[in-house]
Amino acid sequence: MKKIILTGDRPTGRLHVGHYAGSLKRRVELQESGEYDAIYIMIADAQALTDNADNPEKVRSNISEVALDYMSCGLDPEKSTLFVQSYVPELTELTFYYSNLVTVSRLKRNPTVKSEIQLRGFNTSIPVGFFTYPISQAADITAFKATTVPVGDDQLPMIEQAREIVRSFNSTYDEVLIEPDALLPENTVCMRLPGTDGKAKMSKSLGNCIYLSDDPKEIKKKIMSMFTDPDHIRIEDPGKLEGNTVFTYLDAFCKDELFAEYLPEYNCLQELKDHYTRGGLGDVKVKKFLYSVLMEELSPIQARRKELEKDIPAVMEILHQGSIQAQKVAAQTLDEVKHAMKIDYFK
Ligand code: TRP
Repeated sequence: MKKIILTGDRPTGRLHVGHYAGSLKRRVELQESGEYDAIYIMIADAQALTDNADNPEKVRSNISEVALDYMSCGLDPEKSTLFVQSYVPELTELTFYYSNLVTVSRLKRNPTVKSEIQLRGFNTSIPVGFFTYPISQAADITAFKATTVPVGDDQLPMIEQAREIVRSFNSTYDEVLIEPDALLPENTVCMRLPGTDGKAKMSKSLGNCIYLSDDPKEIKKKIMSMFTDPDHIRIEDPGKLEGNTVFTYLDAFCKDELFAEYLPEYNCLQELKDHYTRGGLGDVKVKKFLYSVLMEELSPIQARRKELEKDIPAVMEILHQGSIQAQKVAAQTLDEVKHAMKIDYFK
């Protein structure tokens, strides 16, 4: 069986270091591993509209932003197909057919949908398109016969829902669709990086994100005001690591080699942690170190972005060509789906 990746992001803002740690970095590694027969990276504009119907300008303006983030992180259009969801109308058609295989109560139980409804304050006024987006996500995945979906753990219920749809389709009609597997980050702290305020998830609406393209000064400011241990008041006080965002970020990004350059009094992260818990190590010092660690990772990405930003039309053309390519693949799957459903009357 071919090994195929599909994953993507909603274009509702620039991508942040949570996206990077949770998925983006991994995608680039997978791309470079050469183990995959095809890699599809989708900008999910249609999905973004499910809760931004009244704000198409936001979605539109973020298409190129997300593409820039992708390419500056190392996603290479020569190796991965970068495309825009709405340019592949087959995905909408598949969604419609799949929606007959999913019950309302099953959607209501989907934990991702539940928590996102809460986060957006929809309560009883949930747009139907938003409510059913797990079905559209199953269409995204299956249209490309993806075997592997690299995501953060918040997306696991989505993959489970997609797998159920595949099983239901294949047993009702014919064995056409492939059951996908989620691929989670190996480093568990990367699964869901907290916001700078220590809240569970980095999210634009909470204003607690560090964006990949933030100016270094801005990044420094955000790190300096990051949530640490509220009981660690004087330097001599023993500090807590648990729930301490600065250390969570170090767990995600720090490599021990970086100590030699930026904090030579320590050899490794464990020594730094030990000192902090013992007492005698101030937050500011740890934060300054985190800034260096993060910039080590982000500087090359930011430099590439500056280059790419000089020619936005070229970036858009890459998406356009990728979308044409992706559409052909989805059309082939849709043909098979319609044949299995016996609705290919004129073939
Ligand atoms: N829901 C994902 C996000 O919030 C985007 C997405 C859309 C996606 N379709 C997908 C991810 C299919 C993985 C597979 O960013």
